[in-house]
Amino acid sequence: MNIIAKLAIAASLTTALSAGALAQDLSGKVIGFSQIGSESGWRAAETAVTRQEAEQRGVDLKFADAQQKQENQIKAIRGFIAQGVDAILVAPVVATGWDDVLAEAKEAEIPVVLLDRGVDAPEDLYLTSVASDQVEEGRVAGQWLVDEVGSEDCNVVELQGTVGSTPAINRKQGFEEAIASASNIKITQSQTGDFTRAKGKEVMEAFLKSSDNGADICAVYAHNDDMAVGAIQAIKDAGLKPGTDIKVVSIDAVPDIFNAIAAGEANATVELTPNMAGPAFDALAAYWADGTEPEKFIVTESKLYTAEDDPQGEYERRKNLGY
Ligand code: AHR
Repeated sequence: MNIIAKLAIAASLTTALSAGALAQDLSGKVIGFSQIGSESGWRAAETAVTRQEAEQRGVDLKFADAQQKQENQIKAIRGFIAQGVDAILVAPVVATGWDDVLAEAKEAEIPVVLLDRGVDAPEDLYLTSVASDQVEEGRVAGQWLVDEVGSEDCNVVELQGTVGSTPAINRKQGFEEAIASASNIKITQSQTGDFTRAKGKEVMEAFLKSSDNGADICAVYAHNDDMAVGAIQAIKDAGLKPGTDIKVVSIDAVPDIFNAIAAGEANATVELTPNMAGPAFDALAAYWADGTEPEKFIVTESKLYTAEDDPQGEYERRKNLGY
C-alpha cells in the first residue's frame, strides 16, 4: 500500500473513531496483541482499527499474526509474558485449549482482554471480553429470512466459519433458533468455509453441484461476508442470479457486501464493528487508574442492513477504514 493510501486510511479512521469521548492517555504502556491472521476483510479492519486506537492513546502495541494457528497464538502470548508487557489482547481462533496459557498470564499478573471471540475457560483467567452477541447475530440473520420468505418453502445452504470458533458455533445456533418455528425453512447443506472468500466459493460450488445446479436452493446463509462474496461468485458462475434466484444473508457489514447489496446480488448483512480495541483499552485504562473491574462481557451492537439502508452510502462510508 502506498503512503497516500495509508494516510487516507489513518485520516478516515481518526475521523470515524474519535467521534466519541476522548481516548485516555496510555503512554508508556506496552500491550501485546495476538491476532488470528487475515482471513477476512473484517479481520483486516480490526487490525487497522486496533493499531489506530493504540496510536491515539500512546500505546506501544506489539503485534503478532498467528496465521490461523492456535499454537502460534499460545507461543506469542508466552512471548508477551516473557517480555513483561502491561496487558495482552487476544482474538482466540478457537474456543478451547486456553486454560494453561491464560493461567500463566494471570500468574504473571498481566491482564488479558479477549477480542471478538470467546473461550471455554474459567472467567477469572481474563479481565474482560469485548465481542458481539454472536447468537443474536445468527438470530437477526435468521429472522430476516423468516420475514423475507413468509410461507414459501425455503431450502438454505449454510457456510460455517472456522470449526471450533465461537462465531461459527454461536451464529449457527442463533440462526437455527430463529428458523425453528418456521417449518417451511430448512437447512439442507452445511459446511465450513473457514471464513475465507476462496473457501466460501469452493464450498458453494459443491453445494450447487449436489443440488441440481441450485434448483432447490432458496438461500445461502454465510457466517461472514467474505464467504458470502465467494458464494455470490459461484452462483454467478453457475449462470444464476445471486440475490434473486438464491438469496444471500451474512454477517460483518464489510464494504464489499454493501457493493453486492447495491447491485442486488446480496440481500442482508448483520454489522459487526471492527472497533473492539477501543472498549478494550478503555477498560484497561479504568482498571489501571483505580482498579475498576470492567463488566466480564462488553457486548457490541448487531445491526441489520438491507437494500433499504443506503448500501451505496454505507460502502462509501466504510471503503477507507482498513477493510
Ligand atoms: O470473530 C469474528 C469473525 O472472524 C468475523 O465475522 C469474520 O469475518 C472473522 O474472520
